[in-house]
Amino acid sequence: MSLPPNVITNDDLKKNGLETTNEWIVQRTGIRERRVTDAETASSDLAIAASLQALEDAGIDAKDLDLVLCATATGDYVWPATACIIQQAIGATKAGAFDLSAACSGFCYGVSTATGFIQSGMMDKILVVGVDTLTKHLDWKDRSTCILFGDGAGAAVLSACAPNEGVLSSVLGADGSGLKSVWLPAGGTRTPINAETFTDSASEHDTHLQMNGREVYEFAVKIVPQTILEALDKACLRPSDIDLLVMHQANIRILHSAAERFGIALDRLVVNVDRYGNTSAASIPIALREAADSGKLHKGDIVVTMGFGAGLTWGANVIRWTRDYGI
Ligand code: ACO
Repeated sequence: MSLPPNVITNDDLKKNGLETTNEWIVQRTGIRERRVTDAETASSDLAIAASLQALEDAGIDAKDLDLVLCATATGDYVWPATACIIQQAIGATKAGAFDLSAACSGFCYGVSTATGFIQSGMMDKILVVGVDTLTKHLDWKDRSTCILFGDGAGAAVLSACAPNEGVLSSVLGADGSGLKSVWLPAGGTRTPINAETFTDSASEHDTHLQMNGREVYEFAVKIVPQTILEALDKACLRPSDIDLLVMHQANIRILHSAAERFGIALDRLVVNVDRYGNTSAASIPIALREAADSGKLHKGDIVVTMGFGAGLTWGANVIRWTRDYGI
């Protein structure tokens, strides 16, 4: 995992003139602080740092990778893919590279995609990176969105394993009718950014992330349990089999409601939203890294990852963990 060093607390936001309070943000979201990149740092910088750690941790040489798959909604450029920047920087000379755009569901989509390539026999070793620097696209005067997001990256190396180990099942879903529930309208081919298109404040508004928080919240509390149950069912498992629940970190209330729904004790729910806010595609791999470091993740554990976000998209993977951290 990789996080920028710059910490912005809720009180810092208030001190900068935002009409909010630490109490409101903590009570409604669970967020206390977030990490924010400086002007010189782009998504690939965080992604490369996380990728190098993942390769070292896995004991795999970058030259042996077949694919670099980067899940991001905030690539360095509109194109080419940020995965190509990572591929070159880490020296993955034999790997293909592409980006995958599924916002906060990106890491789940990436793991499912990599699993398909590996299980088909087409590829052997794949680096999946989840990275986002959404703070670059925030309107820091909009209290309904700017309090929520932070920057970060997480990466994992996936490779072939024995049957009934590793990724046991995957569920992916989308509902494009929710396109405008959370989106960034400008910068694509529908509304390119150039001197002619951006002349007034309404247009400038479109260059920032926009969200209907209530809509996304209601979608999340419905889709989270539904998707987890579907993924467990596909793996012939039950909620009581879950050793660790690693969900996208958007709001502590969404995390707690899922844990309560499935009778998961809070020590089996990984939480980092308090320290990092919503890091989009990075939140799940960061949570996995922290779970491993704190001795919560063991070989043989049934780990359920679940993400949801812009698109609208959602995804889950049920994983029998194959790695032993000796903690
Ligand atoms: N500080 C103080 N007051 C605030 C703030 C703030 N930062 N933000 C909003 N308010 C006010 C509103 O103006 C409103 O006031 P009003 O009643 O006078 O109109 C009141 O608080 C309640 O606002 P709501 O939006 O109804 O608050 P809610 O309880 O729904 O919480 C929140 C908002 C935290 C955004 C919640 O809806 C949420 O977490 N939604 C999910 C967001 C999410 O998960 N996004 C993930 C996808 S993102 C991606 O894919 C990139």
